[in-house]
Amino acid sequence: MQKLWGGRFTKSTDSFTDHFHSSIGFDSRMYREDITGSMAHAAMLGKQGIIPQADADLIVKTLGEILEDIEAGKVTFDEKAEDIHMNMETILISRIGDVGKKLHTGRSRNDQVALDTRMYTKKEITEIKALVKELMEELNALAEQHTQTIMPGYTHLQRAQPVTLAHHLLAYMEMFKRDYDRLCDTYRRTNVLPLGSGALATTTYPLDRYFVAEQLGFDAISANSMDGVSDRDFCVEIISDLSMLMMHLSRFCEEIILWSSHEFRFIELDDAYSTGSSIMPQKKNPDMAELIRGKTGRVYGHLMGMLTTMKGLPLAYNKDMQEDKEGLFDAIDTVKMCLPVFTKMIATMTVRKENMLQATKGGFTNATDAADWLVKQGVPFRDAHSIIGHLVLYCIEHNTNLDDLSLEEYQAISPVFNESVYDAISVKQCVEARNVIGGPSEAMTTKAIEENKAYLANL
Ligand code: ARG
Repeated sequence: MQKLWGGRFTKSTDSFTDHFHSSIGFDSRMYREDITGSMAHAAMLGKQGIIPQADADLIVKTLGEILEDIEAGKVTFDEKAEDIHMNMETILISRIGDVGKKLHTGRSRNDQVALDTRMYTKKEITEIKALVKELMEELNALAEQHTQTIMPGYTHLQRAQPVTLAHHLLAYMEMFKRDYDRLCDTYRRTNVLPLGSGALATTTYPLDRYFVAEQLGFDAISANSMDGVSDRDFCVEIISDLSMLMMHLSRFCEEIILWSSHEFRFIELDDAYSTGSSIMPQKKNPDMAELIRGKTGRVYGHLMGMLTTMKGLPLAYNKDMQEDKEGLFDAIDTVKMCLPVFTKMIATMTVRKENMLQATKGGFTNATDAADWLVKQGVPFRDAHSIIGHLVLYCIEHNTNLDDLSLEEYQAISPVFNESVYDAISVKQCVEARNVIGGPSEAMTTKAIEENKAYLANL
């Protein structure tokens, strides 16, 4: 097979070389972007009188037919034609001959691949945003059911202070809001048309880049042709956004794994989102959560891969940049699998409220509130801290907790104590007393949930 670029060559490429440098095995998934981009380019060439209008029309029409045939499974791509761009051109020429040979006027594969990859990334960002939105809706709805579900909040994975499950879930809500925002930001910088940059130094034809941008839904056109063909910042950015998103999912998964353990028993995962053991009949494993946690690693890996591929590249296009795609695609595919599984997993889990509440009882999660109660009686905080520390030690030695001490036991350590301390240190009161912005009280979490609803309605 004669290569589209074969003119200056006297020998054909080694067949293993063909296999080695071909990208059709992975870039064929951009066929729709490649065709749509070529249609806009051809229409512009016709409009500008760079090629005859009738030729442009025939090219556009034939590309439409090729698209239909691909979607009907009637087209097979050829590794020898290297990539999606040359496969498409080869098919076009096979159908309309010389007219098809005019499509590539004023264009290079370098600006073409940059265009296709941007278009593909834009489409995927939009889909991922929708999945993140669904997750946030689920999370907010779940929080709404649990504004009174008291559980221990942890630091160092040690019981620290009581919070509610709503408060805990709303913390993740904030992370996902930032993730969504980052995706919007990356979309904005991806939404810049590189076509018209040519191989690296533009072209001598009077292209109308604004027309192409408008046809393809780009908000801006790239300002410098060398940057236009060699910029892959948008790939790094989207994989970085996805890495962060996976980090958040992974942290949440880690908690789900802990919470579903027999040691915690805070939740039970639905059978549809758990698996059994091939040997231990009693096992119910949180495999989905573990897999999401595990897949986070490969997304991070793609981020490092992408950064490393780009770090030493001189301007402008280098074939190294063909390595951008597999990592990009895999990061996107991975996130698109993880998000819906995660959303359904949390939507179907059973929350064991009693166990969560019970866990706040041990571990002195109300010790800070006991100290704060003393402060309200006029004891300086540092002294109050020390008094309660002694009481905690006393409780540990006597295998009891602050709620169950008698007033005499309290007063033996400080005469300041009176009956009203018991109310102040009930876990419900500990939560409700934190009625400040960002706090776990029912009023504050309800307010946050309402604000989130308004936020989601506006996305
Ligand atoms: N398949 C190539 C890539 O993904 C397309 C651009 C090739 N350009 C070139 N001059 N070799 O980057």
